[in-house]
Amino acid sequence: HGEIELPSGHFSFESPIGTFDRAAAQRGAQVYLQVCSNCHSLHQLSYRNLTQIGLPMSMVEGIAASVQVDAAPNDAGVVEQRPGRVSDRFRAPFANENAARNANGGALPPDLSVMVKAREGGADYVHALLIGYEDPPADVHVPEGMHYNKYFPGHLIGMPPPLNDDQLQFADGTKATADQMAHDVATFLAWAAEPNLEVRRALGIKVVIFLVILAGLAYAVKRKVWADLH
Ligand code: HEM
Repeated sequence: HGEIELPSGHFSFESPIGTFDRAAAQRGAQVYLQVCSNCHSLHQLSYRNLTQIGLPMSMVEGIAASVQVDAAPNDAGVVEQRPGRVSDRFRAPFANENAARNANGGALPPDLSVMVKAREGGADYVHALLIGYEDPPADVHVPEGMHYNKYFPGHLIGMPPPLNDDQLQFADGTKATADQMAHDVATFLAWAAEPNLEVRRALGIKVVIFLVILAGLAYAVKRKVWADLH
């Protein structure tokens, strides 16, 4: 975002061989489910995907069952509600864009599935944005329903500050400061945007090891083949 430098979120997955911190991703899932999902959808994800970050299936079943989703139309063509199943996509908070905008003063809360990939700065940006609310400079007028955020391009954002210290209790006992929640939900959203990152990197490491061995072998063969010419 050009002029403003983002603070590093110090994420476990930042280095080229880094992996997702499972505990952070699980806490981040809790933050998404308890806070962000009131306004943001995450439509690329199904509930069962949560087992990939280490949540037990029984817990995931409970999470799915706690939401109501549209059932398939019955014989009379009526769509009723049913509890969610692990095979369901994450439920969207609003029926459509109009409903979403109406509930948010005209602003549209974007789907968060690939947000970490879509924005420059990635997880660092999401983390910074969530803790970037502050009083506006004296010469900036903040219209009704807007908020001043140091890291949002243009600074005036329609999203109210979503995270406050201790607004939830983490299942693992970690203290829920706003910064901690922002860090963990950014980890969760980074995983959501690229669940195969670890597989991709593990393959890359194997390829490099293979190439190093192959290079050594080629060198040994070369020495042997040309040995008589010394
Ligand atoms: C925008 C994340 C909670 C309403 C955004 C953006 C992100 C984000 C990454 C996009 C910013 C950009 O365009 O660069 C989150 C996360 C949340 C959360 C991780 C939970 C910790 C909420 C809640 C609400 C909300 C609870 C509603 C009360 C909005 C709206 C926008 C937005 C309306 C569009 C803002 C604009 O374009 O002016 N959010 N959000 N968000 N969010 Fe959230």
